[in-house]
Amino acid sequence: MSKNASDKLKIAVIFGGRSGEHEVSLMSAKSVLSVLDPERYDVTQIGITHEGAWVSGENALAVLSGEADGELTPVILPGDPTLRGLYTLQDARFAKLTDFDVLFPVMHGTYGEDGTLQGLLEMADVAYVGAGVTGSAVGMDKGVFKDVMRANGIPVVEAVLALRSEIQAGLDDVVRRAEAVSDYPFFVKPANLGSSVGVSKCNNRSDLIEGLMEAAAYDRRVLIERGVNAREIEVSVLGNDEPQASVPGEVLPSREFYSYESKYVDGTSGLQIPALLPDEMTEKIRTLAVKTYKAIDCAGMARVDFLLDKDTGDLYLNEVNTLPGFTQISMYPKLWEASGLSYAQLVDRLVELALERKADRDRTERRFRRDA
Ligand SMILES: Nc1ncnc2c1ncn2[C@@H]1O[C@H](COP(=O)(O)OP(=O)(O)O)[C@@H](O)[C@H]1O
Ligand SMILES: [Mg+2]
Repeated sequence: MSKNASDKLKIAVIFGGRSGEHEVSLMSAKSVLSVLDPERYDVTQIGITHEGAWVSGENALAVLSGEADGELTPVILPGDPTLRGLYTLQDARFAKLTDFDVLFPVMHGTYGEDGTLQGLLEMADVAYVGAGVTGSAVGMDKGVFKDVMRANGIPVVEAVLALRSEIQAGLDDVVRRAEAVSDYPFFVKPANLGSSVGVSKCNNRSDLIEGLMEAAAYDRRVLIERGVNAREIEVSVLGNDEPQASVPGEVLPSREFYSYESKYVDGTSGLQIPALLPDEMTEKIRTLAVKTYKAIDCAGMARVDFLLDKDTGDLYLNEVNTLPGFTQISMYPKLWEASGLSYAQLVDRLVELALERKADRDRTERRFRRDA
């Protein structure tokens, strides 16, 4: 028997966004939308254009992806919880289009994964999938993230941080500080970005100078890290207060490192699932992944990435992705599949976790209780 519209959970999927990972987000959203069971969910599509405009419509994803033509409705999500829902302008007045029970931001990078969108959703007091403001922001900033890891005794590769202004005004000094950390090669990366955009491997001083310039174009803070001859191992973590780790997987990059081209252009980077590792190493990695997840207060999901030194066997925590690539062939869902949870079950579970977390937030006292 089919359910009444009122019995269904209203879910809004948000995709696109003002980030270099806009296109990756559209691919992830296509997969998510394809498995949301219409018997159980009433789905609203919300697209955010490259310019940051919010639009909605039944085929918003297809229109944003350039696969269909059509008019989309401009919408806003007010940060005012008493309004609750998605609005549009009609005859110069705000009109409510729909409300929803859960929001699923399928967005990567800046303005989607970095805590800014999460801040709006907190203001609006809605349930949403994934980490909150702190987990998202700390997970996004590779500099602050490393400090939090060190404070928790989780090993990270040695690095120094340089400001764009320091790179512009005192390049020699930045180079000296980097060279004091280790020998070449270095990896230089913008502190707040993903998909390897602006990341370079620097084998000598002139590479380093070029890499610093490149990274500084993308962010005002740049990380210079000792290059490790590493295997890249990734783990999917799922849950709120009691997160679980999947089996680890290994990335087999098609180029010298897992660059943007290697991730999205060549199409020949491989995934080895599960990663071929001794049992103790597998357990160590899974334990560290959960510890990391808790340390930065993640929720819902995150993919935790490691570097395993091929020469010494040393293990380092590289980074966390709080809204990891989420197509059906992406590492995050693939690792869960190998751990016994199908893609569709994973999406259902993320929606449940979002509702559980909202219920937990609602238990927080918002007013000071002063006993009379
Ligand atoms: N310290 C390092 N040693 C060796 N390889 C690295 C190092 N840092 C980054 N890389 C390589 O660069 C890629 C992108 O860097 P990463 O820190 O994961 O940033 P992003 O958020 O862009 O994925 C990694 O997947 C890896 O191939
Ligand atoms: Mg990475």
